[in-house]
Amino acid sequence: MPEIFINGQSVQAEVDQTVMQAAVDHGISIPYFCWHPALSIAGNCRICAVQVEGRSWVEIACNMPVSEGLRILTDSEQVRAYRKEMMQLVTLNHPVDCGICDKAGECTLQDYHYKYNGSPSVSREPKVRSTKFHALSERVVLDNERCILCSRCVRFTREISKSNALGITQRGDTSLVRAAEDHPLDDDPYSDNVIDICPVGALLSRPFLYKARVWYLEPTPSVCPGCARGCTIQIWHRKPEWKLNALDPRKNVSIERITPLENPAVNGPWICNKGRDLARIFERPRAEQAMQNGKPVELSAAIAAAGRLIEDAKHPVAVVSNWGSNEELAAFEQTLGRRFATFVKQDWSPQSGERLDDDLLIRADKNPNTAAARALFPPLVDAAAAFDAATDLVLIWGEGFDFARLPARARTIVLDAYARQEHEHADVFIPVSIQTERRGHYTNFQGVVSAFEPCFPKKASVADAETLFAAMVSAGMPA
Ligand code: SF4
Ligand code: SF4
Ligand code: FES
Repeated sequence: MPEIFINGQSVQAEVDQTVMQAAVDHGISIPYFCWHPALSIAGNCRICAVQVEGRSWVEIACNMPVSEGLRILTDSEQVRAYRKEMMQLVTLNHPVDCGICDKAGECTLQDYHYKYNGSPSVSREPKVRSTKFHALSERVVLDNERCILCSRCVRFTREISKSNALGITQRGDTSLVRAAEDHPLDDDPYSDNVIDICPVGALLSRPFLYKARVWYLEPTPSVCPGCARGCTIQIWHRKPEWKLNALDPRKNVSIERITPLENPAVNGPWICNKGRDLARIFERPRAEQAMQNGKPVELSAAIAAAGRLIEDAKHPVAVVSNWGSNEELAAFEQTLGRRFATFVKQDWSPQSGERLDDDLLIRADKNPNTAAARALFPPLVDAAAAFDAATDLVLIWGEGFDFARLPARARTIVLDAYARQEHEHADVFIPVSIQTERRGHYTNFQGVVSAFEPCFPKKASVADAETLFAAMVSAGMPA
């Protein structure tokens, strides 16, 4: 392990590391725009310049290999002067757009301007005007005036998603990032990662455009349930202290955007576009009213009725959800696992047009917790084999069950979070909470366990599956 010295501080670097990597690993700050830990080195922004002690010039840290005894200065007078000049160059044609830019509040260019430059432009030339609101795809919009040509987005589509959907055309200050005509960015299921890695507000999300200022939002750590990869994510929603009282109050409990939560064990710094669109899954019409034979009842009455059905059943079968958390599945197993013949169903199947799987993240199993559910119970391969003439009660938990496969005379208890016509035919229907209303864990297909936290309150009329099964058992016991 080569020992290097950064500002006099001893740093044990890895062999083959660059000065930038060694500095980042040890919490030492060197500014960068074009460098990204998961991408190749472009070395074009020059903001990462540092000085080797004893030399009279500066060099870029992102492309400087470490060597035993190397002594680096990151904040010498020469480095500071060079950085200030580089910031002048980078902002030469950048518009003063921050007031209307979605990136404001989390923009590296803004931060570095105040940290390393802070002066008005020294140029007397008018700024070069370029395309604004250029639609790169249905999901991504580009403002060429804000682009600093770091090429991170281009390298992402070449090296990570491998769609080759972006390139840079023309030269000098007329250079433009553009989508390739024969590889549309729309066909790249990872396209929105370029929005995250763009260090400025050049690439923005069309669905999120002008929807919220980021300082009114806060992230809650969660897990994407879109496939068995279980990417860790941040669900962004309105801060309670910025609650809207006059405008649409649903904005206070809605998902504003979803971004990756970096996780080397699962998804690295990336997620796919389905993960960005989880509001489409979570914000579907909810089931919030308990029912008995299609008639609304109090939640407690439905729980008691379900308990009685369980108590009376001789041959009950349960079909459990692979969207249930580890805690909920364990609660079912401990309270009802011995009483029911239990099978795991597939709550979600691949949708039409959806990418089935690939070598990056996307998995063919479109459910988050199949691994944990199957560790406890066998899969429901064929409903005909799971039910027989003796089956007198079926408990169905979650989505994806074909109600036409129910045995004719069996009573039914249905637990679901989303509205569905078939619920009215259940003997007992109990609405349950969704992932954004509770905490828990999923186990992904590799056995990695990830946690999710609640971001919105659950309605009182809705049950939590983790405590529901025990409540049903005790409500059904003879007095
Ligand atoms: S659009 Fe953003 S990521 Fe792409 S080159 Fe320009 S500044 Fe870099
Ligand atoms: S790869 Fe799977 S888990 Fe990851 S964001 Fe996409 S759908 Fe969600
Ligand atoms: S970060 Fe090193 S040149 Fe851009």
